[in-house]
Amino acid sequence: GHDVQYQYQGFWCFAAGIEDIKDFQHNFKALDTDIVIASVPKSGTTWLKALTFAIVNRSRYPCSSVSKNYLHHPLLTVSPHDLVPFIEFKHLTPEYSSPVDSPCKLIATHIPYPSLPESIKTSTINCKIIYMCRNPLDNFISLWVFMNKLRAMPANTENNPSLPIEEAFEFFCDGVSEFGPFWDHVLGYWKESLDNPHKVLFMKYEDLKKDPKTHLKRLAEFMGCSFTLEEESQGVIEDITNLCSFEHLKNLDLNKDGTWRKGIENKVYYRKGAVGDWKNYLTPQMVKRLDCLMEEKFQGSGLVFETYLP
Ligand code: A3P
Repeated sequence: GHDVQYQYQGFWCFAAGIEDIKDFQHNFKALDTDIVIASVPKSGTTWLKALTFAIVNRSRYPCSSVSKNYLHHPLLTVSPHDLVPFIEFKHLTPEYSSPVDSPCKLIATHIPYPSLPESIKTSTINCKIIYMCRNPLDNFISLWVFMNKLRAMPANTENNPSLPIEEAFEFFCDGVSEFGPFWDHVLGYWKESLDNPHKVLFMKYEDLKKDPKTHLKRLAEFMGCSFTLEEESQGVIEDITNLCSFEHLKNLDLNKDGTWRKGIENKVYYRKGAVGDWKNYLTPQMVKRLDCLMEEKFQGSGLVFETYLP
């Protein structure tokens, strides 16, 4: 059924998505001005989409709630998933373009680095990639809850029961997770960001939570639209942080009651938005096992997930 996952080019995806993925791989032509948001599901993709959209469009759409145009900000009424579409869902994004014309085109993907279309990968002056990752323990919990919510959706006519955490955990540790193995996905982009830092910016959810200002500056600089000193003194970075904060986005009507083009309720993308929620779910044995596994997988890469707790 629809719930069955297949391994395609070494990563796991639903059968229903493979044709679109192939189409994307063969036909997508990136422009030098494109910026690709890449991530493994549940690592903060929605947040990064909102932030990059707000940063890139800030002169057209002011982010300060006291500005007279604030109420026209697209993030108040359109899901980040419709503003920055996943390009591998071709039927959702017929023109591969965002409904709002930005100085650069923002697009998103969950496809692992080696399987990206050649036009994105080849040239070093070609389009840029911003990768978001999250510590594996929180990523796993977020994914487990999300997948069970999808299974329970009324549109899902097959009667799919919730997956118990123990089972989901086995799958995750075996590398069977959406677009996973998790570690291969992260390492693919991590290595590329080391080899080619002007092309791939590597972001961590926890860093962004802890110090949004520093990381918003990194994002803007990387995208070629650094904040001016004047903008900084006017508090533009704080305005963007607040506009895109978990509490603010979660409580918008759009995200409480709306759905995005794929037909999925927006609210499933806003659950807890915290670092360390895993401690409410995982047993010490599970934590130990995942820690050891990640240590083995990331050994020698230089990538560490230092802070699992806030
Ligand atoms: P939790 O399930 O831990 O709450 P993705 O966007 O890749 O699907 O990831 C979803 C995760 O990001 C969820 O994590 C969600 O709550 C969190 N999230 C969504 N919007 C956020 C925001 N603006 N700030 C911080 N976290 C956010």
